[in-house]
Amino acid sequence: MSELVRFGVSLEDSLLIKFDRLIKKRGYATRSEALRDLIRQELVKNEWEEDQEVAGTITFIYDHHRRGLSSQLTDLQHGHQDTIISTQHIHLDHHNCLEIVAVKGKASEVQELADALRSVKGVRHGALSMTSTGKEIA
Ligand code: NI
Repeated sequence: MSELVRFGVSLEDSLLIKFDRLIKKRGYATRSEALRDLIRQELVKNEWEEDQEVAGTITFIYDHHRRGLSSQLTDLQHGHQDTIISTQHIHLDHHNCLEIVAVKGKASEVQELADALRSVKGVRHGALSMTSTGKEIA
């Protein structure tokens, strides 16, 4: 467990007013908690920029009636076993399937897989949620 350190921050009062308004809206109890989250957010962003080992989820929806699409998406995932930790398939309604693919690996490989899944013809929407393995942000 890291030791807690206090430090002073100087900034324009107009900026602090805006910051306080924002953190109140987001539900933070204290400035410290909001600042910790902001710092972690930037550290996670940097992990992705520096192509470190990261984690995340790729979420997409598609119409399973489209010929060959389900197997094409499955083939693609079988080719990325090193990156994929788990896949959840949800039958949303008669036509639409939702897939949530949990990933862990090199940022560039995760990004590549997300791009590949999203760009398959018939995938109606896809999103990559970029987070961290948690090791570097404690
Ligand atoms: Ni389905």
